[in-house]
Amino acid sequence: MKYLVIGAGPAGLAAIRSLRDAGLDVEAAERNSDVGGQWLYGAQSSAVYASTHLISSKSTTAYADFPMPEEWPAYPSRIQIEQYFKDFAKRFDLYSKIRFNDGVSKLVRNGGRWRATFDKGETRDYDGVVIANGHLSDPLIPEIPGAFSGTVLHAKEYKSPEIFEGKRVLICGMGNTGCDIVVDAIHRAKSVLWSVRGGNHFVPKFVGGKPADEGNHRAKIVLPKWLRSRLHEPFARLLAGPPERFGLPKPEHRLYDRTPIVNSLVLLHLGQGDVSLRKPLKAFNGNSVIFEDGKRDDVDIVVFATGYRITFPFLKDLSPLNWQQQSGAPRLYMNVFPPEDNGLFVAGLLEGAGVGWPGRALQTDLVAAYLKAKTAKPAAAQAFRGEIERYCAAPADKDRGGHGIFVDFLQYKRDLKRAIVRLS
Ligand SMILES: Cc1cc2nc3c(=O)[nH]c(=O)nc-3n(C[C@H](O)[C@H](O)[C@H](O)COP(=O)(O)OP(=O)(O)OC[C@H]3O[C@@H](n4cnc5c(N)ncnc54)[C@H](O)[C@@H]3O)c2cc1C
Ligand SMILES: NC(=O)c1ccc[n+]([C@@H]2O[C@H](COP(=O)([O-])OP(=O)(O)OC[C@H]3O[C@@H](n4cnc5c(N)ncnc54)[C@H](OP(=O)(O)O)[C@@H]3O)[C@@H](O)[C@H]2O)c1
Repeated sequence: MKYLVIGAGPAGLAAIRSLRDAGLDVEAAERNSDVGGQWLYGAQSSAVYASTHLISSKSTTAYADFPMPEEWPAYPSRIQIEQYFKDFAKRFDLYSKIRFNDGVSKLVRNGGRWRATFDKGETRDYDGVVIANGHLSDPLIPEIPGAFSGTVLHAKEYKSPEIFEGKRVLICGMGNTGCDIVVDAIHRAKSVLWSVRGGNHFVPKFVGGKPADEGNHRAKIVLPKWLRSRLHEPFARLLAGPPERFGLPKPEHRLYDRTPIVNSLVLLHLGQGDVSLRKPLKAFNGNSVIFEDGKRDDVDIVVFATGYRITFPFLKDLSPLNWQQQSGAPRLYMNVFPPEDNGLFVAGLLEGAGVGWPGRALQTDLVAAYLKAKTAKPAAAQAFRGEIERYCAAPADKDRGGHGIFVDFLQYKRDLKRAIVRLS
């Protein structure tokens, strides 16, 4: 039996290691020239910009058995993280399993197997494929009527703030990317406008000088998400400040229902008046931008930090992944397993602050445990298939974010661990 991993980012690296360590024959294809996925700065897949630091602390983000160096800061920079993945791949001898500069351009069924066609033309057959192609590479840009005479870019193309020097800048979107770019722009631009749609919670990076997210990970008991939200939300509002006080929309969801914004600087700049808020963009007209409330401004650059589309360009037919047109994402058990027992698995397709790379590694350990159980513990594998089918047949859970891929990190990691135990 031969397996392919598509992508050598954090999830792909975890997948190669999990399958190899389970004694399975695995190889990987990576379109970039090195490992690291998003963190390989400047690579075609990467949306990381020069000023990026982790928003999850190093102790909660690093693979469980490969901590980041003691001397690194609590929230390392993208330069350190890029090195971290190269060191990880070396330490666990993963480089020899990866073919670089050669992506998978096509994946089709071939009898009971999958035939992969590579960018350079070669084809190979596999018994199973772990798809770890990432979901922050295909920009989502809203369709805005009218024509703009200035520069328009999506955050994926944004690398560093020199482009803002002396310019009138509009940034659309209040995800963590939008917030980082607003902060970058303030020090260079002539003026900064920020167009915001939905609200979100803000959490500080540090509380009492310690990374704010560490406490959650140390908790011995996993409280239900709603209770954790009720308990922690007032602290977030007290420590970061209620977003409404800065003129931002009040979040309509609870703290642990979405990835929060981990950025205190952007609120500081809002409070100082370094940035002016705007409603969502309605139209372009020459160098003017017109907002939903009728306000109109002249700007030189528009940056859409409006998120990403989930895509699998190598799969012409998305039905084997149980694709849901409405959410623009597949519906998978534990975000990994499609209902059909077809040899496809997805790794890394999730949103959820706190999952980190240990969460991705648990996903791929589960895939390996399942594949092994198919021969070593067929009854357990069969029971697990039942779980997959029941989950996928049931109505979709409410409140799992825009694409329906949000997970509550504490609950999710616990579920993955328990499933691994059942299959091992
Ligand atoms: C600015 C920014 C900051 C972030 N900060 C954090 C953070 O603080 N904490 C956190 O946990 N997460 C953070 N993330 C999320 C980040 O996506 C994950 O940390 C992680 O990179 C996801 O890993 P992945 O392997 O699933 O996907 P990716 O890192 O996107 O890797 C996917 C890989 O697949 C390859 N690939 C794609 N298609 C093909 C193909 N057809 N053939 C071959 N190879 C292919 C790509 O080249 C890429 O190397 C951040 C993301 C961004 C953009
Ligand atoms: N420093 C870091 O570590 C860091 C930095 C950046 C990103 N990340 C991570 O990377 C992932 C992607 O983040 P992201 O910020 O790029 O994408 P994102 O989380 O999907 O956020 C996109 C934002 O754009 C808004 N939006 C969409 N269309 C809009 C429109 N027409 N007008 C105004 N706003 C609009 C969305 O608002 P609605 O809420 O209304 O839909 C949302 O606030 C997340 O997991 C994030 O946490 C981490």
